[in-house]
Amino acid sequence: MFIKNCATCHSVQKGDKTLRAGPNLWGVFGRKAAAQKDYTMYSEAIKKSGLIWNDQNLDKWLTNSGGFMPGTNMYYMQADASVRKTIIDYLKTLK
Ligand code: HEC
Repeated sequence: MFIKNCATCHSVQKGDKTLRAGPNLWGVFGRKAAAQKDYTMYSEAIKKSGLIWNDQNLDKWLTNSGGFMPGTNMYYMQADASVRKTIIDYLKTLK
C-alpha cells in the first residue's frame, strides 16, 4: 500500500538521504511536522503548522493534504478510510 501510494516521493529507510520529492518518513509518527533535518524543501505552510504527526492529524493529512494544510507541497487525497489506516499503521512501524 505504501509503495503504491507514497514511495515515489518518500523513502522509509533509516538514514537514507537520497533526494526525493518528499522527506524521508522514517520515525515520522509522533514527531513534529517538518522535522526531518536532511530535507531542505519544506514549504512555509508545513514549517509553521506546529503539528505533531499523530493518528488524527495523519488521517486528515492523507484524506486531503492540501485542504488540511493550505500551501503545502504535498497533494494527496485518499477517500478510503481503511487504506488510510493501513498506511498510518505502517508509518508507526518505522522506528
Ligand atoms: C507526489 C509526491 C508525494 C506523494 C505521492 C506523497 N507525498 Fe508525502 N510529502 C510530499 C512532499 C513534497 C512533502 C513536504 C510537504 C511540504 O513541504 O509542504 C510531504 C510530506 C509528508 C509528510 C510530513 C513529513 C514531515 O516531515 O513533516 C508526511 C507524514 C507524508 N508526506 C506522508 C505521505 C504518505 C503516507 C503518502 C502516501 C499515502 C505520501 N506522503 C504521498 C510529497 C508526496
